[in-house]
Amino acid sequence: MNPLPIVNLSTSTQPAAQTLCSTNKSHDPFAGPLVDSFGRVHTDLRISVTDRCNIRCFYCMPAENVQFRPRSEILTFEELTRFVRVAARLGVNKLRLTGGEPLVRRGLARFVEQVAQVPGIDDIALTTNAILLAEQAAELKAAGVRRLNISLDALNAATFERISRRTGFEKILDGIFAAQRVEFEKIKLNTVAIRGITEPEIIPLGKFALEHGFELRFIEFMPLDAEGNWDNDQVLRGAEIRELLEREFGPLEPLPVENPHQPATDYRFVRGSGVIGFINPVTQPFCSDCNRLRLTAEGQIRNCLFSIAEWDARQLLRGTGSDEDLARLIRDCVTNKKAGHGINSEEFLKPSRAMYQIGG
Ligand code: 5AD
Ligand code: SF4
Repeated sequence: MNPLPIVNLSTSTQPAAQTLCSTNKSHDPFAGPLVDSFGRVHTDLRISVTDRCNIRCFYCMPAENVQFRPRSEILTFEELTRFVRVAARLGVNKLRLTGGEPLVRRGLARFVEQVAQVPGIDDIALTTNAILLAEQAAELKAAGVRRLNISLDALNAATFERISRRTGFEKILDGIFAAQRVEFEKIKLNTVAIRGITEPEIIPLGKFALEHGFELRFIEFMPLDAEGNWDNDQVLRGAEIRELLEREFGPLEPLPVENPHQPATDYRFVRGSGVIGFINPVTQPFCSDCNRLRLTAEGQIRNCLFSIAEWDARQLLRGTGSDEDLARLIRDCVTNKKAGHGINSEEFLKPSRAMYQIGG
């Protein structure tokens, strides 16, 4: 049964929110895995805890006058924890906290502590730009964050400023080293690869990662910028980066796939021990193994970064919705997931939201 589309009148740039048709209520919504119509079982939930950020990367946010959601619309930690409880009963076992920049949300570590106690949740990861990480690394680790993805697009401060349109590069390095001292289970460095900007950074980033024992991953630039400037020509392909790295550091060999759902293809240097991953959503879409579900900061469930529709969890969380209603809504969102994002197809529609409004 298709959900009833509810046109959101508050802003024309919002995707149509979906709510559930009441005739869908007969089955136990908690019975069975969270599986979509292509057989993909969903166990990984990405929660955006804020749409705010302390920098303005051009591939994610507008430069100025960002239209942040009013605080009253952002889900409280209590609402988020309830959502996580319901999702965990549906089989979600992995959480990733994103933003915006999650570390700008006050009390984040307390929230991590709360969700770490939810039965069924056995892995909590965080994606951060590291600007506030030096201050928060220890408390986040103590609260239960096991793995970190740190965005690091450049080692050259001027290039960082060109991308992020803000200063503060030294804080990122401080944050990275503070996190290393705290000994998270894993720290990955993520570089968005943009033609015309990233090329001179590739070897220095490779050296930095090898020298300090970080896993480095290059992510192809996706059409999720706020200013609509993405162009296929700006996509610096993972295959090109691999060639450049091999020329400098010698051959790379693919590593056995540990987790079929991970978007990265990992390689290791034949000489030495470093691991380099490539996330190639544009040239090698990995949608067929996707097990991810997203919750935006203001409580909309999305089944894909590129989905056009959203399912309104906030309405249920703030109204009289039961946990069963919420479970049905999540299930409905997953059931309606498309086979893939179709970035390369003629019919591709760029989502009306930019990355900071969705969550990475
Ligand atoms: N394309 C690819 N990656 C992106 N990110 C943000 N916007 C884009 C985009 N348009 C990445 C950031 C960060 C994470 C939140 O998502 O680098 O690592
Ligand atoms: Fe902020 Fe991350 Fe978006 Fe950059 S990519 S503007 S760090 S939310």
